[in-house]
Amino acid sequence: MALKFIEQADLSGKRVLARFDFNVPFDKNDKSKITDTSRIDLAIPTIKYMLDNGATKITLMSHLGRPKGKVNAEFSLEPVATYLANKLNEEVILAESAVDSGVKELLTLSKTKIVLLENLRFNPGEETDDEDFAGKLAQYGDVYVNDAFGAAHRKHASVHIINKFFVGRAYGGLLLQKEIQSLDKILNQPAKPFVAIVGGAKVSDKIKTIERLLVSVDNLIIGGAMAYPFLKAKGHDVGTSLCSDEDIQLAQRILKADKGFKIKLPVDHIVSSEFGGKPEECSATNIPAGKMGLDIGPSTINLFSGILKEAKTVLWNGPMGLFENPSYANGTMSVAETLAGLDAFTLVGGGDSVSAVNKSGFADKFSHISTGGGASLEYIEKGELPGVKALRFGV
Ligand code: 3PG
Ligand code: MG
Repeated sequence: MALKFIEQADLSGKRVLARFDFNVPFDKNDKSKITDTSRIDLAIPTIKYMLDNGATKITLMSHLGRPKGKVNAEFSLEPVATYLANKLNEEVILAESAVDSGVKELLTLSKTKIVLLENLRFNPGEETDDEDFAGKLAQYGDVYVNDAFGAAHRKHASVHIINKFFVGRAYGGLLLQKEIQSLDKILNQPAKPFVAIVGGAKVSDKIKTIERLLVSVDNLIIGGAMAYPFLKAKGHDVGTSLCSDEDIQLAQRILKADKGFKIKLPVDHIVSSEFGGKPEECSATNIPAGKMGLDIGPSTINLFSGILKEAKTVLWNGPMGLFENPSYANGTMSVAETLAGLDAFTLVGGGDSVSAVNKSGFADKFSHISTGGGASLEYIEKGELPGVKALRFGV
């Protein structure tokens, strides 16, 4: 059965229940200030589509943070409701509880158009994929739309078991559609050469994705903190760089599987005596004792951009160094700039690399920027996600 998307739905005169991923980051000092609104901004076309195509009532739902099944004002969706109302120029009513009996009444009032349910994770049933909880939510809609790609790797009630109540009436939203189609492009016969760039801190988080990618890529560039366990596994000195024994072992396993020598590692570094301290160039692959690598060096930037310039498909997940600190941002920003100049299909995913791309000013030069870090990695690894599978086949 093919996945049905919202453009195949008849929304006219219908009440729509729609799941989004409004799990956005907030300012540490001002808990009501959203620091990156991308996930909400990218949901707007789907909400507008529903409004423009005759939906009478729209009930929006999302999780925020990890309140672990309990009501906690710190994780309220109130700032999201305010932001949405401004963006849409429509009233957005925040319902105090996702399962309050008042919500159904609210939806019978003629003036009600858009309701946002309070954080789904205030209810224990969300994360336990509870059918009763999903059943209560299901009463708010005649049609169900899932546009929460960022949460599609979670087997939670509002993305998974809820599909039971909407057989033949469940659709993917416009964002979910673009995310899936972009990832499918990478998974199914990517234009060659296909290069993947993997960075970030922990090998264990990405090992399955790396193993899956090794099969289909022409080159696999590894940078950032991810590179040190690989260098160590190859017998290089890494000084005091971030490098757990577990990660070294995993790196060894991956290197052994790399029969085609597709993995490309840094050949020089920007190092420091302490985390975020004064930067020094280390022109060798070996890092001296007492120093830690915090960015890739200039020869590595040349090496990596040479490989990338030939590419027709590029997948990027994870930064090349401590890019939040301008002294160690060069590697990550160079990759962003190189990718921006390519005539290729370029996809970036993962919270850190996405914020690096946004910071670089080249965001509009990428073919697709994924709103799901964990979700995009899991989709690459398995070719499916619980939330997408449930939309496709039901539960
Ligand atoms: C995310 O930001 O990764 C998604 O919104 C899912 O949230 P979670 O990791 O808390 O399940
Ligand atoms: Mg996550």
